[in-house]
Amino acid sequence: AAAGKGGYDHYMLKEIFEQPEAIRNAIRGRIDKDRGTAILSGLGLSPRELVDFQRLLIVGCGTSLNAGLVGEYAVESFAAMLAEVEQAAEFRYRNPIVGSKDLVIAISQSGETADTLAAVREAIDKGALVAGLVNVVGSTIAREAGRGIYLHAGPEISVASTKAFTCQVSVLLLVALKLARGRRMSRDEGVKITREILGIPALVQQVLEKNDAIAKIANNFIKCEHMFYIGRGYMYPVALEGALKMKEISYIHAEAYNAAELKHGPIALLDGNMPVVALMNRGPGQEKTVGNVEECRARKAPVLGVITEGDEEAKVACDWTIEVPDCPHYIATIVCTVALQLFSYHVARLRGCSIDQPRNLAKSVTVE
Ligand code: G6P
Repeated sequence: AAAGKGGYDHYMLKEIFEQPEAIRNAIRGRIDKDRGTAILSGLGLSPRELVDFQRLLIVGCGTSLNAGLVGEYAVESFAAMLAEVEQAAEFRYRNPIVGSKDLVIAISQSGETADTLAAVREAIDKGALVAGLVNVVGSTIAREAGRGIYLHAGPEISVASTKAFTCQVSVLLLVALKLARGRRMSRDEGVKITREILGIPALVQQVLEKNDAIAKIANNFIKCEHMFYIGRGYMYPVALEGALKMKEISYIHAEAYNAAELKHGPIALLDGNMPVVALMNRGPGQEKTVGNVEECRARKAPVLGVITEGDEEAKVACDWTIEVPDCPHYIATIVCTVALQLFSYHVARLRGCSIDQPRNLAKSVTVE
């Protein structure tokens, strides 16, 4: 098994470090730089057909659901197309309104998650066009959907998903680009976005180089019982995924909120024993999040900020910071998530947790 881990102490750490390569594989051959668009032949749809959909509905569970939320935001902002993300289990059991005008994308690393599979069957029954965004080739969801996009992330062994998430988001950005170029987005804008997407692996590499610094910061969190994660816009799904990772492997109770929602209840819980992890990197809504962080500090909550490199103003608002490279927020979903993966990994390691096999969790959940 040590050989399987390629010299890393855990599969999770190995898979975190594989991300630049995994993302390169996920986007390889899928980008048309000259035309500023994506090539997604597995969808089996002409550009014309893609334009005819009235809505994109994304379903998934757990980490795949969090990736889906980034997809929803990207499709709405790039393509000005109605997009929704829904927990697969909820979708399945409430007689959903879905039909032939809907493109449904089911996201699943394993391709075997029972709730997601049930949603796929329901959507097919109701006449929607269903595509899988799946990592495991030949898995049940991939077969039943009949069309889709394979992630090519390589095998993910660690129960806590890492590289599947960043590959899912990378591919969803391609889906958003494709839908957008068929609708409102200019070629120039498309070209700019393809360049940014091609730059993701190098940005992720820069975050991996912060591993030692992140490990040091993690020392301050090993005795925590609770944590809040906050972010706005694209950084909200990142907060959700950061908190999920922390819960899964360290068993610390971590809750994610939109930073604005904090004042509508959760702020009552803030005191010196409730650290807050804040996504404060530069982008839309950043000043507001910095304001929310100041409200947290006023209640004595210690703050770990994920900030843009060199942003001194954000830095002084925090007790600790992880600095990430400057990039558009839709790309920062990946960049910041990698930083938070490393953060949870080190907190869990320092707490002596069973990182690759957390209690009560399974890699793939085949019961509803
Ligand atoms: C399980 C795993 C999670 C995963 C979820 C969805 O709960 O423990 O890590 O995100 O299933 O899995 P899928 O294979 O459908 O992406």
